[in-house]
Amino acid sequence: MLVIELNKVTSTQDFAEAVSNMLYEDFIVIAKEQTKARGRFGRSWYSPPGGLWFTYVKKNFKTENIPLIGVKVAIAIMQIINNFINSKIRWPNDIVVNDKKIAGILIEARTYENIEYCDLFIGVGIDTNLREFPQDIKATSLYLELNKEVNINISDVISEIEKYINLNSKDAIEILNNNLSIKDRVIKIVGDNWEKTCKALFVDFMGRLITECGIFEAEEVYRVDVV
Ligand code: BTN
Repeated sequence: MLVIELNKVTSTQDFAEAVSNMLYEDFIVIAKEQTKARGRFGRSWYSPPGGLWFTYVKKNFKTENIPLIGVKVAIAIMQIINNFINSKIRWPNDIVVNDKKIAGILIEARTYENIEYCDLFIGVGIDTNLREFPQDIKATSLYLELNKEVNINISDVISEIEKYINLNSKDAIEILNNNLSIKDRVIKIVGDNWEKTCKALFVDFMGRLITECGIFEAEEVYRVDVV
């Protein structure tokens, strides 16, 4: 598979979206450093040298398979992190170690004229060897947890993503519920100009978070914090 390796880029996601029209097969864009990386809801994503920052592009991806893709990729990334340390998924798709975020996932799609198919941009950031974070970022890295540098092979990550994106939705939701960091815990759910605090119960078959104070869709929730 084509792997485009960059030293420094604004965002692997932006680069991948810019070149995707010129390519016909799946490809990967990986960068040592990003200067304008983004997360969900256009938030900025801290990406100095030392992390694993990449976008995996699936060409001709069936649009009907987009729902729950974030859950499936999150499971794959959790399995990769679990090779080093026990991690969990904080709905909708943050990977956490002891409630501290260690990896994030941003999925974007661009449909073709025939809307049955799209280019799928799977953006993944894993805090591998970061030695510190700015004070306002509540996160951790494998280096900070293990006190040693780690090496994650991009081809292993892609194989794991491929394994789980082909998983059926029922099994994916079951794995998610078995590894849900917020299960039966009181959380603060933050959206656009609103927030609610209550106990998280489980994720339903559509990927929605069921809580004691209502049902939440991933698309409407900015952030979830353990209280
Ligand atoms: C989130 O947690 O909000 C998602 C973070 C996704 C970050 C990755 S790093 C590689 C790719 N390029 C970007 O600009 N963002 C994603």
